[in-house]
Amino acid sequence: MRLNSASSLVLLLKLSHLAIVAALADGEEFTFNGFSAANLSLDGMAAVAPGGLLMLTNGSTVMKGHASYPTPLRFHCSRDGRSAAVMSFSTAFVFAIVGQYADVSSQGMAFFISPSKNLPTALPGHFLGLVNAGDNGNASNHLFIVELDTVLNGEFQDIDDNHVGVDINSLTSIEAATAGYYDDEDMGLFRNLSLISRKAMQVWIDYDGLTMELNVTMAPVEITKPKKPLISTIVNLSAVVTEPAYVGFSSSTGIIFSHHYVLGWSFKMNGTAPPLNISILPALPLMISKRRSQVLVIVLPIVSLVLVLASAAMAIAVAKQRAKFAELREDWEVPFGPHRFSYKDLFYATEGFKESRLLGMGGFGKVYMGMLPKSKMMVAVKRISHESRQGMKEFVAEVVSLGRLRHRNVVQLLGYCRRKGELLLVYDYMPMGSLDKYLYDQDKPTLEWVQRFQIIKGIASGLLYLHEDWEKVVIHRDIKATTYCSMLR
Ligand SMILES: *[C@@H]1O[C@H](CO)[C@@H](O)[C@H](O)[C@H]1NC(C)=O
Ligand SMILES: *[C@@H]1O[C@H](CO)[C@@H](O)[C@H](O)[C@H]1NC(C)=O
Ligand SMILES: *[C@@H]1O[C@H](CO)[C@@H](O)[C@H](O)[C@H]1NC(C)=O
Ligand SMILES: *[C@@H]1O[C@H](CO)[C@@H](O)[C@H](O)[C@H]1NC(C)=O
Ligand SMILES: *[C@@H]1O[C@H](CO)[C@@H](O)[C@H](O)[C@H]1NC(C)=O
Ligand SMILES: *[C@@H]1O[C@H](CO)[C@@H](O)[C@H](O)[C@H]1NC(C)=O
Repeated sequence: MRLNSASSLVLLLKLSHLAIVAALADGEEFTFNGFSAANLSLDGMAAVAPGGLLMLTNGSTVMKGHASYPTPLRFHCSRDGRSAAVMSFSTAFVFAIVGQYADVSSQGMAFFISPSKNLPTALPGHFLGLVNAGDNGNASNHLFIVELDTVLNGEFQDIDDNHVGVDINSLTSIEAATAGYYDDEDMGLFRNLSLISRKAMQVWIDYDGLTMELNVTMAPVEITKPKKPLISTIVNLSAVVTEPAYVGFSSSTGIIFSHHYVLGWSFKMNGTAPPLNISILPALPLMISKRRSQVLVIVLPIVSLVLVLASAAMAIAVAKQRAKFAELREDWEVPFGPHRFSYKDLFYATEGFKESRLLGMGGFGKVYMGMLPKSKMMVAVKRISHESRQGMKEFVAEVVSLGRLRHRNVVQLLGYCRRKGELLLVYDYMPMGSLDKYLYDQDKPTLEWVQRFQIIKGIASGLLYLHEDWEKVVIHRDIKATTYCSMLR
């Protein structure tokens, strides 16, 4: 029993294969004025509406759709396949592209001849459901395409965002022209057409197998075929079109969707495509005449406003950051450059002059502990507020000259920084802290008399250096246990 059903399946497959071969011979000419009765092969988003309108794409984004004549056609004259030249063929179709927005371009559509009817590896978006990034241009595609391209794509060297192109295996056209027609009524004057105009237009594709001449002509649906084609080029399709091959339409959507419609289609092998009867073609759906969606109308200004506000906020933040680290620098300070610290460095060194970094209150201001960001050197930063700029030059000169003081019992002054209303002095950091802690803190061990005597001698030696031994006389008038510490290093 099992064996029987298996062999009958084989028989069935053979029969269906015969059916396809039989259909090939019949497939030399067809005409569809609307697709209600047409048994097209559809995939992806493609569907035939009850009125007979072929919709290649519905309202989805980033999708593809194909509609093909269900049986492949024999394009080559001889029975042994590609060795023979491609026969003449001719096709005509009426299409309309109805984008999401009347004035914003979405992806276009194409007529194709291909070895496959659903191009499974092709991608949507700008690949138009015909190729993908890897196989675009590969001769093994065996693709002949007439594209109705609504997007200017640099990747495919598009001429504009509204063109008709003849493509072989690749979306880079071998020949392209801005959509339009040569008006026979007006001495062949060129009139452009907008592919995304939502209006029905007719396209004729005629190939002469002998001369290898390919003509692509288009016109508004109510106008008869213009004498002068939009594109006329010579192309040898022998190695391109396989035997047999499918004919059909492909379209895709990107982020902005479109409806791609085909209203009628005729095809003839080795002859001229039968004319379509325009009066009986299905009607396009009534358009909701929304120009741009409310979403765009509302969202776009909000987005722009947010962007403007964001950039303003950023500008303010940058300005604030600048103000935060702003310093006062004058020409006379240039020679003192090496002794100057940047406020930013001191700010980061002290974690923004954090309370926890406070070492004590000096005679003129607060002293903070910090670690310089680059050198990782520990410093003490004294912040002195001063309002007047009077005497500042002299004061800074003094500070810098004091910076040259070197004595083991005198805290080294490393440099300064100046801001509006404030002067910062940077000293060596004394890790043991100040003397007063050892004198008054209960926790610390009581200092021995020997130690105390050493400290007093140290202070005296430091003072002597300042008063007499250094090149300038420096009078220290503020000796306190709270500021004296170097002895305890
Ligand atoms: C073209 O496609 C064929 C079959 O997919 C593949 O073997 C070949 O490597 C491709 N050629 C190039 C240049 O990508
Ligand atoms: C034709 O081109 C002209 C000039 O480039 C333009 O103003 C007009 O809108 C175009 N017409 C259509 C139908 O695209
Ligand atoms: C292409 O158009 C030209 C000019 O109208 C015409 O002479 C030629 O026969 C056409 N070729 C085909 C294949 O239709
Ligand atoms: C057309 O292409 C086929 C296959 O590449 C080649 O054999 C033939 O000679 C070409 N015809 C002409 C006229 O160049
Ligand atoms: C194509 O048509 C011409 C004339 O109509 C005829 O002579 C020729 O045999 C046809 N070719 C094929 C392959 O049917
Ligand atoms: C188009 O179809 C209508 C209605 O069926 C018919 O009356 C008319 O003759 C047809 N026109 C052509 C050119 O076939």
